[in-house]
Amino acid sequence: MFCKLSSALFLVTTMTNERIGDAQFYICSCFMTDNIFLEDYKLHVRFMTEDQFRREYESISKEVDRRLCLAETSLNRAAVIKNTYRPLHPHVYHLQETFLAPEFKHIVKYCQSQNVTLKSLSDLLAKETAPRVYRFPVFNKSFCADLLNELEHFERSAAPKGRPNTMNNYGILLSELGFDQGFVTPLREQYLHPLASVLYPDCGGHCLDSHRAFVVKYDIKEDLDLSYHYDNAEVTLNVSLGRDFTEGNLYFGDMRQVPLNETECSEIKHRAGEGILHRGQHMHGALPISSGQRWNLIIWMRSSQERNKLCPMCNRKPVLVEGEGFADGFTRRSTRLLADFCELT
Ligand SMILES: [Fe+2]
Repeated sequence: MFCKLSSALFLVTTMTNERIGDAQFYICSCFMTDNIFLEDYKLHVRFMTEDQFRREYESISKEVDRRLCLAETSLNRAAVIKNTYRPLHPHVYHLQETFLAPEFKHIVKYCQSQNVTLKSLSDLLAKETAPRVYRFPVFNKSFCADLLNELEHFERSAAPKGRPNTMNNYGILLSELGFDQGFVTPLREQYLHPLASVLYPDCGGHCLDSHRAFVVKYDIKEDLDLSYHYDNAEVTLNVSLGRDFTEGNLYFGDMRQVPLNETECSEIKHRAGEGILHRGQHMHGALPISSGQRWNLIIWMRSSQERNKLCPMCNRKPVLVEGEGFADGFTRRSTRLLADFCELT
């Protein structure tokens, strides 16, 4: 591979620039180094020197190794947390109706009524400029404060912490901290599933059966923003938990099949206690905060029925590898004895 690239580099650097009339046209030198497509690997790479290329390739191989051990290391961390960490607010681990905003309970009840339609439900929810993105209050302020205090207490503890995903460097995986069974699962099953069934039946919203939940933290001295991306989810709920911050709006483009240069983005402001519900494949990102600290609870909700047909990350028929817990939400056939992840991602 190095020989091929070095020869290509030599050929391009010996090319002469072109003269048309009085104007002389040039190419940018990045043409020789950046965005080099390796046909054999179907991959774009950057090649400055052989040393740089080897260094960057090594970091990719480290990431692959990390992913291979992910389930085991996560289970080990969860076991250590369970044995050593003493929560500050044990009550926040068990979902109670009193945590929820009255408007949210009303919306969910309406979704379960016989006469609900997409239009009548949309009329109940706040209008956002991005298509099929909905905002509504989820938690009351005192629950948000208790949850934040609990998360900060965990952060200060000596307990081991995993990264929520490859894009966020700061945050907490809620399954490792013990929030799944008593909090996230009932929130998904009893409250979010009825909503998603009406809003996103075409994207698996009517058959959500697993999730991955985490809290992300943005701080002026840590992560400031999040690049444009899509989620490994059929439906995502993103709830702002507070603290005080300025800027840091969420922005939405189009679905992942549409290139960014053909997309018009719209911004949505975070408000503490309020959730933003959207399709996982709807491209989005977070603008940088300009001061303070911002915490958000993210729930990636998954439908095995939907993703078993096509992996949302590689867009191919999933080839399954056994995983732990909800893994990446794939299942074999219709029986859900084991959750799996797709080895193509
Ligand atoms: Fe996201």
